[in-house]
Amino acid sequence: MGSARIVVIGTGYVGLTTGACLAGLGHQVTCVDVDEKKVARLAAGQVDILEPGLEELVSRGLSAGRLNFVVGAGAAVANAEAVFLCVPTPMGAGGAADLRAVEAVIDEICGVLPAGCAVITKSTVPVGTAQRIRAMLGRVDVPVVANPEFLREGTAVADFLNPDRIVVGSDEEQAARWVADLYTDLAAPNVITDAASAELVKYAANCFLAMKLSYVNAIAELCERLGADIMSVTEGMGYDRRIGRSFLKPGPGWGGSCLPKDTHALVQVAESVGFDFSLLSAAIGENIAQRDRIVAKIAGAVGGTLAGSRIGVLGLAFKAGTNDLRDSPALSVTAMLAAHGAEVTAYDPAVGGELPGMRIVDDPYQVAKGADAIVVLTEWDEFRRIDWSYLADLMQGDSIVDTRNLLDPQVVLAAGLTWLGLGRPRAR
Ligand code: UGA
Repeated sequence: MGSARIVVIGTGYVGLTTGACLAGLGHQVTCVDVDEKKVARLAAGQVDILEPGLEELVSRGLSAGRLNFVVGAGAAVANAEAVFLCVPTPMGAGGAADLRAVEAVIDEICGVLPAGCAVITKSTVPVGTAQRIRAMLGRVDVPVVANPEFLREGTAVADFLNPDRIVVGSDEEQAARWVADLYTDLAAPNVITDAASAELVKYAANCFLAMKLSYVNAIAELCERLGADIMSVTEGMGYDRRIGRSFLKPGPGWGGSCLPKDTHALVQVAESVGFDFSLLSAAIGENIAQRDRIVAKIAGAVGGTLAGSRIGVLGLAFKAGTNDLRDSPALSVTAMLAAHGAEVTAYDPAVGGELPGMRIVDDPYQVAKGADAIVVLTEWDEFRRIDWSYLADLMQGDSIVDTRNLLDPQVVLAAGLTWLGLGRPRAR
């Protein structure tokens, strides 16, 4: 298809990536946000989030005149052919998704949407949302389409431009096909379906990934108890093409703005239709247990009692490559350490400022000063390049607890330290 006139509402990492990439594909895109200051910064080409390639795409879109940023959805949609909803859908009461932001936008644009303009949900929304939006709009001349995104934070632009698939669902098939055609330049299989199925694909995929991780974390625990090595176990599993090699790394638990929220939401959705999704609930429980086990491991590394100990933390973001702290397992682990009476000093290459229960410093060596143990909680590559001998001299104790199995144990050992990984034999 040629160029379409598109409005993207919400400029978080999903909305901004979607807007900038659609402009990159040749469409005419207007991005809308309620935050005036953010809109002004974006209009000047300034991107606040850590997303490789995004700032460049935004500048290119701006200078080509294909991308612009405005406040106020009402005016922006008046001439649109498609409106993408990319507003937050946080965890609400009881774990269900909170749709107030989506509802507020629909309220605002309902009366001004031109006939035939497709309203498209991009944020993860509960199954049935497309139908609810249709009812709220009360307009037969406006198709509603579900087009979930599968963007990972930190690789959102690359994921957008090289998707594994494009999923589009609507109860009006023609509208679904028209939306799929917006991406025609991206060579990816299309799944064109009804709205409910498209909405469920997103939850089913994210929850499957969460279950895979909980499973791997449990297998890592078994490895420790049985004297096996998780690295070999996951390597052996991963070659099975039915399992695949990705998402097999154990860690301090899965976090971020998506997996925790979506797992809770799907349990809620299941409950609302009388189905006890105990398999998924167990994966959520396992994710909590994993954090407890990590804290117990750290306690073990400092002689059994955390009270009065000094713990240095490397990494606070929920994963490397982002400064996002939402639902970060590193934050829950540090909070638990502090609650047990440990004194926590932390460093993260992308996180500064102040956080409760810890002191944040500017480099790994300040973390090491007087520490009884150092804990790696986020898999930042730069931690591999630490001068461990220098760091060892600064420490009080000698334990490195590597919850991401990030470091080369031999390098740590050579510095006279002990290394404790996850699901791996203790290196001596
Ligand atoms: C996730 C999905 O991977 C995306 O496909 C989806 O589009 C996105 O949610 C969303 O719903 O918007 P994201 O939250 O950015 O993406 O993070 P992931 O890369 O999936 O990582 C999630 C968590 O799992 C992190 O805490 C990470 O450290 C952990 N993880 C991941 C592991 O512990 N081990 C692994 O092998 C992989």
